[in-house]
Order: sequence, then C-alpha cells, then structure tokens
Amino acid sequence: RRRTRVHHLQAWKDAGEKWAMLTSYDQMSAEIFDAAGIPVLLVGDSAGNNVLGHETTLPVTLDEMVPMVRAVVRGAPHALVVADLPFGSYEVCDEDAVRAGVRMMKEGPAHAVKLEGGRRSASRIRALVDAGIPVMGHVGFTPQSEHILGGYRVQGRGLAAEDVIADAVAVAEAGAFAVVLEMVPAEVAQGITKQLDIPTVGIGAGPDCDAQVLVWQDMAGLRGGRAPRFVKRYADLRGDLERAARAYAAEVRDGAFPTAAQSFES
Ligand code: KIV
Ligand code: NA
Repeated sequence: RRRTRVHHLQAWKDAGEKWAMLTSYDQMSAEIFDAAGIPVLLVGDSAGNNVLGHETTLPVTLDEMVPMVRAVVRGAPHALVVADLPFGSYEVCDEDAVRAGVRMMKEGPAHAVKLEGGRRSASRIRALVDAGIPVMGHVGFTPQSEHILGGYRVQGRGLAAEDVIADAVAVAEAGAFAVVLEMVPAEVAQGITKQLDIPTVGIGAGPDCDAQVLVWQDMAGLRGGRAPRFVKRYADLRGDLERAARAYAAEVRDGAFPTAAQSFES
C-alpha cells in the first residue's frame, strides 16, 4: 500500500467509490486505523472535547495540536493526515493562516490542513493552496463558530440551503481538495455532492456524500453519555475498558494478579 494522496480522493469520487475518514489524536489509534485501511485521518480540533477535556473546540491552540499531529503522522504510514487549524490561528488574516499551515506541514509533518468556513474563508484557502498546502474545507455546522450559530444545530434547512451551497461552492472555487459537510440535511448534501467536482465528506449529512467522517471515540463507543444522532457506535470500548479496569483492580485486591507467570526468577 502506498500513502494516500489528495489525487486518490478525487479518483475515488470520479469512480464512485466511497471512503471513510476518522479522527485520530495519538500514535496508537493512528496505527490501528491505518492498519484497518482508513485512508484519511483527521487530527481534529475536536481534541478539545475528546482529549483535552474542554467543552468546545475553541480553547484548543496550535501548540497543543502540533504534538498530536506528530504522533498521528508517526503512527500512520499510509493514511493522508489532515491537521485542523484551531480557532484563532487563521481568523485574522491570510498571513496567519499560511503561518499556521506552514507550521503543521513542517512540524507534523501533516499532509494537508482543514479550516472552517465557506465564503468567509475563501481567501484563506486560496492563500494556503498558493503556498503549496492542500486544504480541506468545512461548511454547514462549524463548531468553532457555535456561539454565533446558537449551539449544535442543523444548518441549511429551508431557504438557508442556499447559504450552505454557496459556502461549499466558494470552498471548491478557492482550490480546496475536499469539503466536510457537517449537520446538513441529506438532500442538501446530496445536491452539493453532485454539483461539486471535489469530494464531500459528510458528518450528519446523509448517505450521499462521497465520504464520511466520525470522531473515533464516538465511532468506537469510548465517549460516554448521549451521542449525537449522526453517530453510530461500532464497539463498546468504554464498557470494555471499564470492565478491564475493574477486573484488574479486583485481582490485585484478592491476590490473583500477579502470579508466578508475571514474576521474575532470581
Ligand atoms: O475536529 C473534528 O473532529 C472535525 C470533524 C468532525 C469533521 O472537524
Ligand atoms: Na474540527
């Protein structure tokens, strides 16, 4: 297997082959997903909610993202590794965006970056692409602007569909190689997927996107509590880990662990 590259994703769209993307924030999950054949790994700023213990993605910094990107790149010999640009690293100007992107590409080294926003981010995307950095866009619900969007809400219902469509088109015209559609009605996502030449990656955007993405702890049932509607759990890692920890602690207490098998002779 060779490393996945941006042009492979385009070829898969052109051939009608769907593919799956997962988030990853550390070496071991990256190794496992790479071995499972996941072609694209996203070091998402969802690390805020899933690794760092924040309630949103907003507090995540570039300095926090870089070591996670490094670990994922080290763990994944075949996947295309996309690094999220965190809130604050690209809002002010195109120059900031390029500086943040260059850092990801140098210090990861990531293979691409992702940033949020459609029409409002078009010049950022163009500047990054001009600097030689492949960009994945992200429109619909954009978690970094949740305070303006009024919380986790579906975007593009009714007349607002035109806004999401215009954002997706702007991302494609700015030179992005793919675009995430988050929490968009399935019909709207289907229309965008047909209209755009570049692949769409859906999360809560129905079955007709060219690809799908989930946060890995959601996909594997590691995160507790109620999952969003768009999540499907393929394992119960939270239950498995808790049972393992309880069994270990119980065996330590009652003397069943360790035995001679786990001990050294003199
Ligand atoms: O940070 C993230 O995990 C994301 C995906 C959900 C698309 O941006
Ligand atoms: Na993100």
